[in-house]
Amino acid sequence: MDYNIAVIPGDGIGPEIVREACKVMDQVGKVFGHQFQYTEVLMGGCSIDAHGVPLTDEALETARNSDSVLLGAVGGNVGNSRWYDVAPNLRPEAGLLAIRKGLNLFANIRPAYLYKELMDACPLKREIIGEGFDMVIMRELTGGLYFGARHTEEVDGVMTAVDTLTYNENEIRRIAVKAFDIAMKRKKHVTSVDKANVLDSSRLWRKVVEEVAKDYPEVTLSHMLVDNCAMQLVMNPGQFDVILTENMFGDILSDEASMITGSIGMLSSASMNESKFGMYEPSHGSAPDIAGQDIANPIATILSAAMMLRYSFDLDAEADAMEAAVQQVLTEGFHTGDIYSEGCEKVGCSKMGDLIAERIRK
Ligand code: IPM
Ligand code: MG
Repeated sequence: MDYNIAVIPGDGIGPEIVREACKVMDQVGKVFGHQFQYTEVLMGGCSIDAHGVPLTDEALETARNSDSVLLGAVGGNVGNSRWYDVAPNLRPEAGLLAIRKGLNLFANIRPAYLYKELMDACPLKREIIGEGFDMVIMRELTGGLYFGARHTEEVDGVMTAVDTLTYNENEIRRIAVKAFDIAMKRKKHVTSVDKANVLDSSRLWRKVVEEVAKDYPEVTLSHMLVDNCAMQLVMNPGQFDVILTENMFGDILSDEASMITGSIGMLSSASMNESKFGMYEPSHGSAPDIAGQDIANPIATILSAAMMLRYSFDLDAEADAMEAAVQQVLTEGFHTGDIYSEGCEKVGCSKMGDLIAERIRK
């Protein structure tokens, strides 16, 4: 089959990690007989440099007309980059929010899995790690605080900023359905995370999630307050299967979950709409401080590409092969700097891509 993929390298380490993901996909194409065609799209700081805006209408159209989107990362150093001397809606991250909204990518799936080989890179004590953990964070991605009306103005001589957090029941229901669907393919446990002891939006969230749960009698649903969840993640991460939560809570908790996997450089993600269309990107940022040095970890991006094959193209065997190749490289002891521990061989970004590509088997 031929697949037409819009590739958005972005800024910072984006281009180097995306290059490795394409390298591995090309190898998958060779081994399994597929053709992956890439159309490069500018987004973020590089688009600001070229077009004055972080995402052009043409770029959005190219992404929309593709079979799926692979994204590296966008953004630079806030405070010391010309990209941030402009209105917030013209900064690199605004491009990311715009493409998520423009393509209706409301369901952000972020798996956090601890590879046995990375136990030494995990900051938790052994007794807390136990048998390890394997969870998926289902983050709502196009609503809530990040998309509500906002403004800053002087009120009675005092500078005042307002952000609004809105969810309607339909937005909650569709993400809850995604979470329960994925739980059915896993350990059948959904932990819905909210702040229902304070927020109206969370109380509606809880009510709608409970309604959806009625359609999934096999799935156990529990509710957890977000502050407690932040604590539970570092106290007993093994208890989680699927964490379902709203946009900002998911943003924060997924960074926390990624860190306990050993490195944020390991955490892949998929952002999906109602159908099988998705944008696949590592959960980490553009890491401008290490860009261009060939030391970034490309695994999160490679695992994101594997998610693309699985969720958008239904190529399960191919996705399995990519994940197995990652596993094998780690087992053989090749680690990038962020997951390095004694006794391993430290490799750079492009070498890591080579090693994984070489291990793609049918
Ligand atoms: C992420 C990032 C983005 C987000 C930023 C860059 C807008 O932190 O994908 O988690 O908050 O969604
Ligand atoms: Mg984030």
